[in-house]
Amino acid sequence: MWFVNMRKKLLLGNWKMNKLASEAKQFAVASSSLVEKAKLHNIDLGVAPTYLSLSIVKENANKDMIVAAQNVHFNSSGAFTGEISIPMLKEFGINWALIGHSERRTYDNETNEKCHAKITALIANDMVPVYCVGETLSQFEANRTKEIVERQVREGLKDLTSALVKNLVVAYEPVWSIGTGKNASTEIAEEVCKFIRDTLKDMFGDVADEIRILYGGSVKPENIRAYLSCPNVDGALVGGASLKIDSYEALLDNIM
Ligand code: 13P
Repeated sequence: MWFVNMRKKLLLGNWKMNKLASEAKQFAVASSSLVEKAKLHNIDLGVAPTYLSLSIVKENANKDMIVAAQNVHFNSSGAFTGEISIPMLKEFGINWALIGHSERRTYDNETNEKCHAKITALIANDMVPVYCVGETLSQFEANRTKEIVERQVREGLKDLTSALVKNLVVAYEPVWSIGTGKNASTEIAEEVCKFIRDTLKDMFGDVADEIRILYGGSVKPENIRAYLSCPNVDGALVGGASLKIDSYEALLDNIM
């Protein structure tokens, strides 16, 4: 039987701790025509700026540009110094958030349990979590990739139902390939993304075929097409190559 992949491609730039608000605004303005171009090819485009640039990007970008936060707290208010809540994001029209990025897992003690609380809170508020998973270099070298990723998926998404995970996005980012220029081969990307889909299928059934799974880690204009031609890779979460408008446009051009 022919399998028709109906999942819409998604290119998401994670700006991490980069760009002043003025620079973010410049990018937002310059990216407007790219969103129109992407729409013609049925591709979703987005960026995840720092908290301080979210509103300026939202105000100045094409209305169809996805603007995502890089993190969020699971409580809606209270004594959590330095944190930002879901209602605060929603007030600015921000409906997406990255959860469990490996840099947050490494530097900010983001556990699967915390990710689970954040994902549950986001879904309860009709927001889209982009749940990041991936193994470290030592775990990869010890052949533990699937064990680690499966635990991240199962613990991060436990107690959810198929109806609730429909809009979820999962991003597979092997930690050893982030910002290192050391790419996972397309075979590894496809194998792990398929494994994630099979795990989602086991947890939630057929809805797993609708969930978008991204690859991330040293994605560049030169290699994005190869990743996105894998049957289970529905898009890319891009760090460094998403920061400059020319490079972001080249990423888009190379998946159209
Ligand atoms: P790089 O594309 O810079 O390797 O970063 C990947 C990443 O961490 C995206 O979230």
